[in-house]
Amino acid sequence: MVARTQQFVCQNCGAAASRWAGRCEACGEWNTLVEEGAAAPARSSRKGRLFVIEPLKGQTNEAPRHASGMAEFDRVTGGGLVRGSVLLLGGDPGIGKSTLLLEVAAAFAREHHRAVYISGEEAVAQVRLRAERLGLSDAAVEIAAETSVEDIVATLSQGPTPRLLVIDSIQTMWTQKVEAAPGTVTQVRGSAGELIRFAKRTGAAVILVGHVTKDGQIAGPRVVEHMVDAVMSFEGEGSHQFRILRAIKNRFGPTDEIGVFEMTGAGLCEVANPSELFLSERDLGSPGTAVFAGIEGTRPLLVEIQALVVPTTLGTPRRAVVGWDQSRLSMVLAVLEAHCGVRLSGHDVYLNVAGGLRIQEPAADVAAAAALVSSLAHAPLPADAVYFGEVSLSGAVRPVAHTAPRLKEAQKLGFMRAVVPEAARADAPDGFALTTVGTLADLVAEIARDGVPALRRVGRQEA
Ligand code: TYD
Ligand code: MG
Repeated sequence: MVARTQQFVCQNCGAAASRWAGRCEACGEWNTLVEEGAAAPARSSRKGRLFVIEPLKGQTNEAPRHASGMAEFDRVTGGGLVRGSVLLLGGDPGIGKSTLLLEVAAAFAREHHRAVYISGEEAVAQVRLRAERLGLSDAAVEIAAETSVEDIVATLSQGPTPRLLVIDSIQTMWTQKVEAAPGTVTQVRGSAGELIRFAKRTGAAVILVGHVTKDGQIAGPRVVEHMVDAVMSFEGEGSHQFRILRAIKNRFGPTDEIGVFEMTGAGLCEVANPSELFLSERDLGSPGTAVFAGIEGTRPLLVEIQALVVPTTLGTPRRAVVGWDQSRLSMVLAVLEAHCGVRLSGHDVYLNVAGGLRIQEPAADVAAAAALVSSLAHAPLPADAVYFGEVSLSGAVRPVAHTAPRLKEAQKLGFMRAVVPEAARADAPDGFALTTVGTLADLVAEIARDGVPALRRVGRQEA
């Protein structure tokens, strides 16, 4: 017997409360509590069933995968979609999730796998129009516009099991097993649960689309992250054409890989050499730009970091950053001030990672610092130099992992020198000039070597 009770569920974090409140106690978001029906656990007289406890050591086969044939997508998933696995693809509305998944479904169909694309947001005609625009009209993808999970499962249980099932989006799905409006946390969880059961039972790989919403009115995909096998996010700046597919969680593969795509008039194109793309619009010879030799997953990625440091007219100077961590910027500014005598408290600071990329590595500290000092000192950095290294609070420049691939990528793209931590010397390729810096003060001295007026004005002091 199942008793029905009412509860209030936060649409942001999924926490349940017995009473309505203006603010969720768990996550602190305002106006996110919505009344939803909940199934109270039935009291049962069922005795515990005995199960087998096994040793960890044993034989298992490698999880069977189906590659889509789309190199960037396969790279991020760890070599293709695993049978019976469920992947959640999150991203802002309009970023290109439906476009990407229609292309993935078409790639699957091209490999003679049955691929079914179910849209809860668009009519069949709209999906057809998009396919036409993408040049995929001939792809053997099966499409439907449906929102009832029970109907979808019943229909797909007939006939051959699809290798790939795309559900666009989980927020539009509803299951009759729970009493709540579509889009609420309870419905999103209930529908995801049903689709996950379908995947495990039939071996179909399921991709769920989830919109990331800033306001808590519609349940975000975060509430099902723990239920699925893999979580990917599709990111990018609306104004840039680059899109990054990033693995956040993956039970069957690496989580630090990224796939790079370019949104064009005819859909998403894979970008095999992202460094070239990110550096293609470089602003050579102007102060405040440094090329960072980064690593995303196993792949080196060169990207330009731009800084603008200008005297402030505000009481509290502005710190604006796009594509990098705000607290990381604050730390680099504090170290510059405390250990290098570079005073920025009277300046507004803007930092931007070119191309709409988001950098998460601490190795970008040195490149960001170089861009900041270059802007403040009006001293352009050499156009053929790359920068990397992590900065510690003491002002020391610490070594970072994967030095060799960073330097090799830089050399491949025509760079001749690098400003790096001391430990990187061992990995330098032939014919590549290295300047090693032990502290951030060394870096400042390197950039302002010829005594740049702006830096002299702020008074350089040795750490
Ligand atoms: P879409 O896949 O519908 O986004 P999502 O499913 O994440 O909401 O993509 C929407 C945007 O992509 C839309 O603003 C137009 C753009 N776009 C292109 O630039 N070229 C194309 O070929 C397509 C299909 C879309
Ligand atoms: Mg869509």
